[in-house]
Amino acid sequence: MPTRADYRPPACDAGEVALWFDLDARETRVRAECSFRRNPAAAPGEPLVLHWRDMEIASLTVDGVAQAVGGRSGELAVVPRGETLTVSAEVVLDPAANTSLQGLYPAGAALVTHCEPEGFRRIIPFPDRPDVLVRMTATLAGSRADFPVLLSNGEREAEGAAPGGRHWVRWRDPVPKPCYLFALAAGPFETIEDRHVTRSGRTIALAAHVLNGPAERARFALDCLRSVMAWEERRLGREYDLDTYNIAVFSPLAFHAMENKGLNFFDESVGLVDPETATDLDRLGVEINVAHEYLHHWTGNRVPCRDWFELCLKEGLTTLRHQLYAEERHGPAMRLWPLRVFRTQQLPEDLGPSARPARPPEYAEPFNLYTPTAYIKSAEIFRMISELTGAEGFARGLNRFLDACDGRPARIEDALREIGAGAGVDLGGFLAWFETPGALAVAAEPLAEDVLGRPGMAVRRAGGAGDSRPLPLGRMDPDVEQVDAEVGEQTRIGGVPVLHGRSAELRWPADGRAAPMLFDGVSAPVILRERRGDAALAAAMTGGGDPCRRWDASQQLATRAIAAVLAGAAAEDAAHGLAGALGEVLARAADDPAMAAELIALPEPRALLEPLDFPDPEALHAAWSAVRGALGGMLDGALQRARAAVPAPPPDSHGPAAIGARALGNAALELWLAGGGAAAEAAARAQFAAAQSPNQEVAALRMLTRTHGGPDPALAETARRRWERRPALLRRWFEIQALRPAADTAETVRTLLRDPAFDAGDVAQARSLCSAFFVHNLRGFHDSGGGGYALLGEVLRDLDARNPVVAAWLLRSTDLGNWRRFAGPRGEAMRALLDGLAGACSAALADIVGRFLE
Ligand code: PHE
Ligand code: ZN
Repeated sequence: MPTRADYRPPACDAGEVALWFDLDARETRVRAECSFRRNPAAAPGEPLVLHWRDMEIASLTVDGVAQAVGGRSGELAVVPRGETLTVSAEVVLDPAANTSLQGLYPAGAALVTHCEPEGFRRIIPFPDRPDVLVRMTATLAGSRADFPVLLSNGEREAEGAAPGGRHWVRWRDPVPKPCYLFALAAGPFETIEDRHVTRSGRTIALAAHVLNGPAERARFALDCLRSVMAWEERRLGREYDLDTYNIAVFSPLAFHAMENKGLNFFDESVGLVDPETATDLDRLGVEINVAHEYLHHWTGNRVPCRDWFELCLKEGLTTLRHQLYAEERHGPAMRLWPLRVFRTQQLPEDLGPSARPARPPEYAEPFNLYTPTAYIKSAEIFRMISELTGAEGFARGLNRFLDACDGRPARIEDALREIGAGAGVDLGGFLAWFETPGALAVAAEPLAEDVLGRPGMAVRRAGGAGDSRPLPLGRMDPDVEQVDAEVGEQTRIGGVPVLHGRSAELRWPADGRAAPMLFDGVSAPVILRERRGDAALAAAMTGGGDPCRRWDASQQLATRAIAAVLAGAAAEDAAHGLAGALGEVLARAADDPAMAAELIALPEPRALLEPLDFPDPEALHAAWSAVRGALGGMLDGALQRARAAVPAPPPDSHGPAAIGARALGNAALELWLAGGGAAAEAAARAQFAAAQSPNQEVAALRMLTRTHGGPDPALAETARRRWERRPALLRRWFEIQALRPAADTAETVRTLLRDPAFDAGDVAQARSLCSAFFVHNLRGFHDSGGGGYALLGEVLRDLDARNPVVAAWLLRSTDLGNWRRFAGPRGEAMRALLDGLAGACSAALADIVGRFLE
């Protein structure tokens, strides 16, 4: 098992690589000429290790000496004799037999590659590690009829015709990169073009290549690309480094998208916008994914990770950067999106026994490192740092880091050191955030007046004394004093008090002001347990402060109401205070509709499991529905007035204001519908029937299916018939059926999985259906009949046979990691499922099963 502590600098860290591909679906020949430079930092005698997987090696020579290799997978250690080391190889691949979605594989009529993290070893024998940077040239040859378009990284250097209806194109990428950023795409792509003029006046040719046209559907992606390029130029003064930027859109792809240098890949679901099918969320998905992959250009590609332990460095920084970009474009409510994902997806993982640090000390399967912890939690850690240093300090620090490590594989330590130096603060202590597993819970409670008559608050972190994560407590008046119980010293960074020890007292002058609000303006990724009364929470929610604190107050109030119903209270009583606050939010909804939409949405039932100490999921769902129902009833008039005050904009307007207005309209309609009144039901059905836009249709079907839970086969049939010829909408239809919160949904999903219109080979489709049911449908999946667990076992075995890393992703995303906390037969059934998988599955899936059983 790779261990971080065992890192050794590679024997060679740079080189030149020339590749020739003779493309064919059944028999692709690849020839490679590599010349590596000895790494002066390597230990004497350190070998360079070549890895290969699933290939036939026709020849392999090192420094001109033929090597004897047996087996389709293996490795060879060679010690450089001089300053350079040359490797030549010729191999034969069978892409059609490759279902792993790594290496060279078929995507529809195309042949494509995916190499992150260790897929390049499926292409040629190579030192497949991210700290070996090489300049690459790739010559692609194949039948012009089968592969009219031949794409790889960098600039198109030469091309030509060859006998027998064949042709070739040579691509050269002048900037050294790790091999996981290599890519090729060959096939009948349709192309559209655009260009971007940088701040310094360079023109960059942009093109989108779409496997299943019309390619115009990628126009929006190109618009997003130009926009994010300009944003990074404005924010950091950094430009893209080549003259050509290509994106290719096809399915399937292992994950949504991939940042290959100069040739980003997108799954159709996040690369194309078809006005006939695209919802507002689909557009946001394209915008965010295009931004994310572009922003990897600096955080990831020019500054790569030293090894895969550092994945959280490139993913955390890039995720934060795409979030900041989206917030600037769409407004502050966008901040709540990652926060919701953090609570619904990252915290359950971080609270369970399988919690891993963002930078783990070891791993069994590198693909299993791509978790909400690596992406979302790391982004939250970097965000906390950026809020401490301020936007300008952070930009200065980031630029300093990117200059210092350009072309030099980096670690978290490098980022903290350089960002800190650029911003003028010491961030070294924040390394603990990346190395400590598990969520940090913080308790706050009021203190009696001290001898000076000053009010106060005690802040205490839960858990071990060994937890040294520095905790910024938020922006507060300069005369709030922090008395650290153990450390003694009072640290402030940028004026923000930082807790280093286990607890601290805050004291402020007795002049009648309110207690400081913790984490105001600096949002730490913690679980805050504070003893603020309902009235204080309601005031925070309706005030105009930090969006995170407003939203958190709404979530806390809702959680309290649901807890009270679970404990036997009547829903109307339990939800009374929350209804009052929501009424105020609704009355002013027109000020910021997107924010109001977020505030009136209750936490997902799944996000409530831990805060409510793992109640019976059926009872939890019933309490959640009861509270929503009570709110819908009590707010009947307020919801209708808000809908009237913010009417749905024309379906063809897609700016932030239009998106926000539709979001509010739909959130209000859903809550109103939950109230159970006939008028609301009629309004939702009318919205579905009137079909002004796919966004409104999808939202109406989703709320009608989710909110009532009762089967409505007629509605499902109507929707299916209406969407039959629009595959992207049909996909939504599958997903919505899987979200129905009912006892028999497992049976529905079993039928859907065998539906002729469901393509199990389309990973994006499998992923959306599976995550709707197994991850987000708490009521259906955890039904006491056990049907959900049985189905999960079947699906995992089936997926695992074709695609182990996707099976591992699915299991990891479910609640099974917390099986010990589910009382009675549920916990036992989950355990039995894990026991049944153990020993009878792929290594990637076994890695997750093992962690869950630990
Ligand atoms: N690195 C890619 C991204 O975040 C996605 C990816 C996920 C790649 C998983 C490999 C494995 O943009
Ligand atoms: Zn990424």
